[in-house]
Amino acid sequence: AIDLAGRHFLKEVDFTPEEFRHLIDLAAELKAERRAGTERQRLRSRTVALIFEKASTRTRCAFEVAAAQQGAATTYLDPSGSHIGRKESARDTARVLGRMYDAVEFRGSAQATVEELAAHAGVPVYNGLTDDWHPTQTLADTLTMTEHGTRPLDRTRYAFLGDARSNMGNSTLVTAALLGMDVRIVAPRALWPREPVVARARALAERSGARVTLTDDVAEGVRGADFVATDVWVSMGEPAAAWDERIGLLRPYAVTMDVLRATGNDDVRFLHCLPAFHDLGTEVGREIHERYGLEALEVTDEVFESGHSVVFDQAENRMHTIKAVLVATLAGAGTDAA
Ligand code: CP
Ligand code: NVA
Repeated sequence: AIDLAGRHFLKEVDFTPEEFRHLIDLAAELKAERRAGTERQRLRSRTVALIFEKASTRTRCAFEVAAAQQGAATTYLDPSGSHIGRKESARDTARVLGRMYDAVEFRGSAQATVEELAAHAGVPVYNGLTDDWHPTQTLADTLTMTEHGTRPLDRTRYAFLGDARSNMGNSTLVTAALLGMDVRIVAPRALWPREPVVARARALAERSGARVTLTDDVAEGVRGADFVATDVWVSMGEPAAAWDERIGLLRPYAVTMDVLRATGNDDVRFLHCLPAFHDLGTEVGREIHERYGLEALEVTDEVFESGHSVVFDQAENRMHTIKAVLVATLAGAGTDAA
């Protein structure tokens, strides 16, 4: 039996395929239980600290709602609300929070920070996104693919277009490789995941039977795809000046209806971790629209609003999968064991 009690959740490559699939299966069970109105609280009297050095809608809310539904309490520390990184080291912060909380979530820039917290907290630490990895997102993406796919994961074709030299590009590539998928990174060479990430994916693929393709050719990359995914072209923490370069490089990689048609699959599904620049009506969107005259960036509004798009199921699944991480790592560890 797979037992993840007490484990950290820092990056996908720390897990075996069986462990990762166990979290997906648990999330599906918890989701079904919630839907049936029979949810059992497994985390009563547990506490979780949520450290956010970067903004969040989904991840923060997913942790708070998942914890509350399971009977646990959370403390949200906003980007300016604690001493971490300014007056107090990650190591000291970890040793303090570990004395009070049963687990700690961290979202910020450096993967080294979440690893440092994990080394010293004495309780499970969860990565809520760093510049390198976004592992709670790939859990939700995988659950969504099991719900919307027409084939088992190890026969699923998965194309990721856009800025792949980022947390989502890295995490998507290694997760698909871990699970034995036919994964295609479709991006200009300059924005492919870095070599160590590609090497890890290839090593995982040798064991799982995954097929790993990196290509700058959109037609080749999306041919036959079951799922087409993308992400923003400039990530949190990157300078605004990056838009010039990225828009220049990435315009051919925007997910349009033509791209979906090029898959040759009428049932192709569109994924996006969100937030998405499918219309430029937001504050940042308007600035970009005025500067570059574009109507959309990584995905058109037509694709985003189409029947192919499963992005809101995917967003909901952030909550069910994060709940699975909490339950798998924390349930049974204390006095209120289920
Ligand atoms: N997808 C995702 O992580 O969203 P948030 O930034 O809103 O948490
Ligand atoms: N790559 C994006 C993901 C947001 C969920 C970012 O880091 O901003």
